[in-house]
Amino acid sequence: MTQQRLIGRREFLRSAAGTAAWLAGAGTLFDSPAAAAASSRSSSPDLVLALTASPSDTQILPGKPTAVWRFTARVLKGDGASVQPSPGGYLGPTLRLKKGQRVRIEFDNRLPDPAIVHWHGLHLPEAMDGHPRYAVGPGERYVYEFDVTDRAGTYWYHPHTHGITGRQIYMGLAGMLIVSDEEEQGLRLPQGEPDLPIVLQDRTFRRDNQLAYISEEGDGGRAGSGMMGGGMMGGGMMGRGMMGGGTRGGMMSEMMGFLGDEVLVNGRRNAVFTVASRAYRLRLLNASNSRIYRLAWSDGTPLSIIATDGGLLERPERRAAVTLAPGERIDLFADFSAKSVGATLAMRSLAFEDPMVGMMGGMMQQSRLPSGAAFDVFRIRVDRRDSRSTPLPERLSALPRLKEEEAVNFGSPRLFRLTMRMMHWGINGRTFDMDGVADDEIVKLGTTEVWEFANDASAMMAMPHPMHLHGAQFRVLERASSNRRTELRESILDAGLKDTVLVLPGERVKILAPFSRYAGLFPYHCHMLEHGDAGMMRNYAVRA
Ligand code: C2O
Ligand code: CU
Ligand code: CU
Repeated sequence: MTQQRLIGRREFLRSAAGTAAWLAGAGTLFDSPAAAAASSRSSSPDLVLALTASPSDTQILPGKPTAVWRFTARVLKGDGASVQPSPGGYLGPTLRLKKGQRVRIEFDNRLPDPAIVHWHGLHLPEAMDGHPRYAVGPGERYVYEFDVTDRAGTYWYHPHTHGITGRQIYMGLAGMLIVSDEEEQGLRLPQGEPDLPIVLQDRTFRRDNQLAYISEEGDGGRAGSGMMGGGMMGGGMMGRGMMGGGTRGGMMSEMMGFLGDEVLVNGRRNAVFTVASRAYRLRLLNASNSRIYRLAWSDGTPLSIIATDGGLLERPERRAAVTLAPGERIDLFADFSAKSVGATLAMRSLAFEDPMVGMMGGMMQQSRLPSGAAFDVFRIRVDRRDSRSTPLPERLSALPRLKEEEAVNFGSPRLFRLTMRMMHWGINGRTFDMDGVADDEIVKLGTTEVWEFANDASAMMAMPHPMHLHGAQFRVLERASSNRRTELRESILDAGLKDTVLVLPGERVKILAPFSRYAGLFPYHCHMLEHGDAGMMRNYAVRA
């Protein structure tokens, strides 16, 4: 392992697009904005990675291999441990970065599609963030170079190609990105083998073992009965007229989000993690297209949650169950030291009432594993003794100071209604516009704002929407609901710093977001990938 370079290094960088200058600080969220212009010193990167996306195949089911798309990576310079292959499945390798590092990533697109990679959760200049307008064509390359300024935490990377992100992630393009820092190192949390990336996704396989996504649904090739093409499409308002012209099931999945027939963990079916009788850090990422999980241990042990999207909490939170929506992460501290060899335990997704409401809510069931069904997500089996004990510190981290009163719009939140018009989800009635930004989507660099997402249920349909901002880690200030409390809502954890927040039907969620790092154009969107692809995405602009 090379020596970490963490010592409050500050540099001025110039964007690849040659736009503004920004401050890439190794400090807190509250670095002063990069008013200072174009002092550009390009230091050479500490870490250089070659990252490739290409078609591949992998053995998921018995019999014929499954065609997938896959990220692979190689270390060209720097710490060889920065790239850790994801064993067994199709997922991209886990990238391990250190705060303060300067990283160059040379992305080669060997897909038959345009693509661009987004580093979900990191604060990066616009040109490094993977905005869809930077997508490169098949055979082309995009070179990222940035300083890692974020807190230690569980982040991830995935394509962000306009309109086809859902399909690209579904085909296998996703990986975990873990940042470590000095503060976290000091805590002696489980490291190495006991630090486990766990990526949750759902997939539907056709009878020939190939992945079925929206356009393949209901074509009769799916293993089992094609529900998508069956009863609910039979006639009436959802009949031919609406589906005509498009792919069967496409419009429905666009509205509801894709749900697979089964859950894969780290790209594998029936995942079992064999562990030693000691403490583990389980990093859970919901990289599913649209499925929400309500996680709990099968034996009723409370979950010890030590981190959320933006890194460590101040202190561990103990919860009977926790909701994990698409895009979100939680890190668990799981102590198996009292277990004997041979003991098993399951991580379950508990039943919940499907939060979709409205007249279209009841009639749709597109998966053999319906939203809100209970199932085992993965199993743990203790297969060896280990006497090393790692106690869970009661104090984990100091969160950056973030006060509501300091918001420039304290008392009058910027309102974002989650809307449905003409059968399309949108934000304030608008859909994605590649380079566009509306007057009410412009924020000032260096300020903190209160944003409010309003998911006012309509008679037609309302769904939960996990709302995600690029370029900001925010605090959830308030969650108000006009509906009665549900299990799903009871399990939502709003603690810590977040980049994705689930907004249930009937809820209004207020967040406090600092826009302190970079000027530029950044997406904010629903992380139900089908919603985002269909236009439930907008830009916001940060201007000096
Ligand atoms: Cu994980 Cu804009 O996305
Ligand atoms: Cu993101
Ligand atoms: Cu949505």
